[in-house]
Formats: sequence, structure tokens, C-alpha cells
Amino acid sequence: MSNKVKFGSKIGLIAATVGSAVGLGNVWRFPAETQANGGAVFLIIYIACVFLLGIPVMTAEFSLGRGGNSDATGAFRNVTPDRKGWWAVGALAILASYLILSFYMVVSGWTLEYLFQSLTGNLYASDTAISTAAGDEALFSSKMASYITGTYRPLVMTFIMIAANLFVLLRGVQKGIEKMSNIMMPVLFLLLLIFCGVSLTLPKAYEGVEFFLKPDFSAVTPSTVVNALGQAFFSLSLAMGILVTYASYYPADTKLTRTAVTVSLLDLGTAILMGLIIFPAVMTFGLSEHNLAGSALVFITLPEIFAQMGGTMFWSSLFFLLLSVAAFTSTISLAEVSVAFMECRFGMSRKRAVVTVVLPLFVLSSICSLSVGPWSDFTIFGKTIFDFLDMVATNIMLPIGGILLCIYMGWVAPRSFFKNELTNNGTLTSHVFGLVAFIVKWVAPLLIALILVWQFI
Ligand code: PFF
Repeated sequence: MSNKVKFGSKIGLIAATVGSAVGLGNVWRFPAETQANGGAVFLIIYIACVFLLGIPVMTAEFSLGRGGNSDATGAFRNVTPDRKGWWAVGALAILASYLILSFYMVVSGWTLEYLFQSLTGNLYASDTAISTAAGDEALFSSKMASYITGTYRPLVMTFIMIAANLFVLLRGVQKGIEKMSNIMMPVLFLLLLIFCGVSLTLPKAYEGVEFFLKPDFSAVTPSTVVNALGQAFFSLSLAMGILVTYASYYPADTKLTRTAVTVSLLDLGTAILMGLIIFPAVMTFGLSEHNLAGSALVFITLPEIFAQMGGTMFWSSLFFLLLSVAAFTSTISLAEVSVAFMECRFGMSRKRAVVTVVLPLFVLSSICSLSVGPWSDFTIFGKTIFDFLDMVATNIMLPIGGILLCIYMGWVAPRSFFKNELTNNGTLTSHVFGLVAFIVKWVAPLLIALILVWQFI
């Protein structure tokens, strides 16, 4: 079944797509990856990955989405009705996005908790049980333990995020997703710019910027490239069915190549701004490098920094507002993949589809949340349920989906279909089509396959 709903404006469709792309991947994954992979060299390779692979694969997804005009499985059926079985690639993407959603929602709940705790000041209230001599790191580690690995509070916050998703998704594509993105994305960019201004005027800002922007090519190893490409796919929301679904809401006159470039540049710009915020702060406050990894960066290192700044509660609240907004617009896009599937595949009404998709999340996300806290002894292959889902969906399903998507658009779908989408049925001239098609056909699948294999050897 096809869908008839479209985004109402150009700005709205860009805001919604950028809202999906800009998420926790930019804020906590990017600085951590940059730090772990040699700073500026990683940034250069990352930028190359975004331009050489990210943007072409994004145009392929947009083409499949708008031309297929359905959910992530129906798009394959509509484009090549005689090639049975390819819908399974979409099904894999839907499953992966739903699994990611179940733990991404939990992390979104943590960001909301930190927003509340910043607003109330509890996050910075000293704790008599923790020796002050041990320094702030011990204090914030223990706060993190109580906010994140507790039983009830993380669940409550996760449920609030799920309820907020329910609210926006029920209002539909234009009145829900588009309107929310039109309000939230400008707020997010304004906050980013404010933080950049603050960070760049810190005493050791220059040293931080130097680490971030001055390349040391001797630090490059094959894994630098592998990690940069993985980060690019994660950050641009590729191979998850998200862009196929959102592009099915693009009107016929949307310029797909230009949209892909705009979305990718805004996503890349956010990541770079995050680097310009984090590294000067880390250098100025003399924090050690291990504090940059994943959740420690956001939930321990940043509060340490805010605690040393004037206006602690104000800046902390503003930052966690930024993070909650970024996470929220991404959870909406992850959920919309399944909602569109329920609507198009089973002919469900919007309301029914949203409820069917969102209600199980209360259970699935609870399991993920508890697996970090009271159930952390229960492991699969030595990982908690949370980490296991993250690993399977992000490191295995995402690259497999990416390879299959490229094979489909490069080899199975008619070349004329791809060309018609990029040129809006011949009304635009596309100077880059040949290059984009070549990358999607050859370069991207081979490189992603390399990543997939690399991580296991
Ligand atoms: N692109 C978003 C982020 O960087 O956080 C959301 C996201 C989409 C995360 C797809 C993970 C993913 F696999």
C-alpha cells in the first residue's frame, strides 16, 4: 500500500530529517570516537566518509523512499514488483530500528532525568557519603549510579519519553513530527551556538581546538577508517529504514541530492560544534582522557565541568535540554519506521498503528533499563541485554542492511528509477548521478562489508 501523507514545507522536511540525524550519536558518540581515534585525523577521515559514502547512500535511500512511496518494506515491493523477497531488507531495517529504539529510549530517559536534576540542583548537591577529598568525579559517578542504574526512577523517565513519543506520533506527520521539529531544531541549534561561544572563551580553548583540528597522520590505522565510517552511518541515520520512511513523505518536487547534502552538512556541523564545545572544556578543566568515553562523558565529565563554571545549574539545565531535544527527535524517527510499516502493510489507522508500536516499548525499554541496573548480572555472551541489543543492531544489523540497500539500489532497481528520482523525472539536471550510482553500486557495499568483517578479526 502507498501512503498519501506528505510534509507540508521544505523547511519542515529538512527539520524533521535533521532531527532524526542529529541525536546522541553526535553529542556523545562523536567526541568519544574522535578522542579514541587520534583527534583531528579522525575528523578528516570522518568528513571524507560523509561526503564520499554518506551523502551518496543517503540519496539512494531518499530515492527508494520517495519513489517507493510506502513503508520500508513496501518501497521495495513498489519499485520492483517482480523481484520478490527484497522487502526482507526493509524488514531487517525495521527490526533493527525498533531494537535500537528500545534502548535509545532508555538513554533519552537518562537525559531527561539529568535535565530535572539540573533544574532542581540535586545533581550538584554534595553527598555526605562521598568523601569530598575523592573529588567531583566520585561524586558524579555515584550520582550517575543512582540516576541510571536505579530501579524506579530510570523507568519513570523512560516512560515519560515514551508517552511524549506517543503524543507527537498520534498527531501525525504534519501536525506532529513536522511541527515538533520546526520548533525543536532551531532551539537545538541556538543552544549549540551558545555553548560553542562559552566553550571557545574558556582559558585553554586553544589547546582543545588544536587537539580537535590539528591532524597527526601517524595516528591513522585501518581501524580509524572503520570507526569513522561506522560513525558516519550511525550519525546520518542510514540503513535503518528511517530515511526511506521520511522520504516517502517528501513531495514530488523535493530535490533529493540537495536535501541529502543539506541534512548531512547540518549533521556534520553539529558534530563539529560538539567537538568545539567538548575539547576546550576538557582541556581547561584538566580532565583525563578516559573521561570522554560514552556515558562517562555526558553524565560524569560534563557535570564536573559545569560544577566548576559559574551559573552551574543554568548551563547544566540548558545542556541537558539540548541533549533531550536531540534524543527525542531521533526516537520519533526510529518509531515512525514501524508506525509507517503498520499503516502501509496492515492498513491500520494512524492511531492504531502508533498504539501498536509504542505500547510494547513500555515493556521492552523497561527490560533494557533494568538490565543496566538490578538485572545487570544477567548477561548474553558476557553483555547486558542493553549492550547486547546495541551490539547486534548497531554493529551487525546496520552494516548488513547498508550493504543490502546498496546492492538493491545499485544492481536490482532499474538505473532509470534511481536517475528519475535524482532528476525529478528529468526536470532537473544531475551532474553527479553517474558518480553517485557508481559509489552505491561498488564502493559503498565493498567498504561496508570490510567494516563488518573487520570488527570480528
Ligand atoms: N542518527 C541519530 C543519532 O546519531 O543519534 C539516531 C540514530 C539513528 C541512532 C540510527 C542510531 C541509529 F542506528
